[in-house]
Order: sequence, then C-alpha cells, then structure tokens
Amino acid sequence: MADGQFENIEACVFDVYGTLLDFNSAVTRCRDEIGDKADQLSDLWRRKQLEYTWLRSLMGDHADFWQVTGEALDHSLAALSIETPSLRERLMSLYRGLDPYEEVSETLQTIKSAGIKTAVLSNGEPAMLEEGLAAAGIRDLLDEIYSIESVGIFKPHPSVYDLATKSLDVSPEQIAFQSANGWDIAGAASYGFSTVWVNRSGLAEEQLPAGPAATIPSLTTLPQLIGI
Ligand code: LAC
Repeated sequence: MADGQFENIEACVFDVYGTLLDFNSAVTRCRDEIGDKADQLSDLWRRKQLEYTWLRSLMGDHADFWQVTGEALDHSLAALSIETPSLRERLMSLYRGLDPYEEVSETLQTIKSAGIKTAVLSNGEPAMLEEGLAAAGIRDLLDEIYSIESVGIFKPHPSVYDLATKSLDVSPEQIAFQSANGWDIAGAASYGFSTVWVNRSGLAEEQLPAGPAATIPSLTTLPQLIGI
C-alpha cells in the first residue's frame, strides 16, 4: 500500500455480487432439491456468468447482466444434468433477493455517518440492483447506484470505472473501491482507484498487471483502513 493511499477518500464504491451480496445464497436455499451437485452448480453458474460477460464484451455483443445470468444458469444446469422442474425459475427469482454478508449493513452505516459517500458499481442492470439491494435492506445506505448499462460494456473495461469517477466528480484515487473479485480489483487498480480486495475465502492473488492497494478478509476493517 502506497503511503497516504487511503488518506483523502471521498467515496467508498462497492462491487455488488460476491462483495455485498452472497451469490451462493440462491443455490443454498434450494440445496435440498439440488442435492450433492449444489456447490458445483453455484461455482459453475458464477464462473460461466463472468466468462459470458468477458466474451460478450470482446465480441462487441452486449446483453444485460440479467440475460447473461440466465444463459449461464441454462448452461450450468445442462452441463451438470440437473433437470429438476421449475428450478431455473426459482434460482433466477432468488438471485433478485440474495443475502447480504453479515457485516455489510453496519459497515455502510459507519462510512455514511462519517460523511463519506457510498455507492455501488456493478455489472448488474439497474432493476436487479435496485431490487436486490432493497431486499437485502441496504438500499437506503447507498447514495448512488451505478450500473454498467450506462456504458454498455462489462467490467473490467476502464469506461466502467470512469463512470463512477465522473459522476462523483472526484479523482480516481479519492475513491476507495472494494471488490471480492480479484480480476475486478485488477481492472479498478489499473484504472487508478484506491483498491481494497475483500478476500473473503482466502484466494491466491491474481497474476494480472495491477493488484490491490490493500487486502482485507471482510468489510469489517474498511472504516479503520480509510481512517474513520
Ligand atoms: C458485479 C459483479 C462483477 O457486481 O460481481 O459487478
């Protein structure tokens, strides 16, 4: 972490899926129906969802994150030969009401009370973000919701990160950007944000051109890191 890196933070901007909301909670709620392929399904669904965003961005063939999430689920159910009737519909509906990680609400409150702006910057399309953050009980703790739909290309394209900087009217290093996704942190760090990798599951560091300025195991210590 560079000296003074987190000294002049004006806004805390968060990734959503995996950082504020637990995408595994959809599959967890259907665990009994899915049986022993549940963990595999959750992993593959997430991996394909992200792969499809990167591929679509490279192909110049954008579709919104809701569509991509459904297409990734269709592939994953077929790949694992899971044919439970109505499961697709249930999982998609649960994806709009994912559980927040336990420390999220308190951390956002602390940051907001200190007069620092809070926002999300996500691949999610606006309606799924509004609905999901409201269902998790944290919508009111966020000043702004930025969706990549405003720029029409997925993370980690630099124009996505630039969207938050321009809208907040601050410089990139005055934004503390939190993500549990190492590749998202690489994109955000390369763009110029002050990046915090929330390494919830002790993953190995990505080997990409830029890395996190700080790494924390959950959001609990974020206020301390930014000096509040
Ligand atoms: C998001 C995905 C990358 O919320 O988790 O943007």
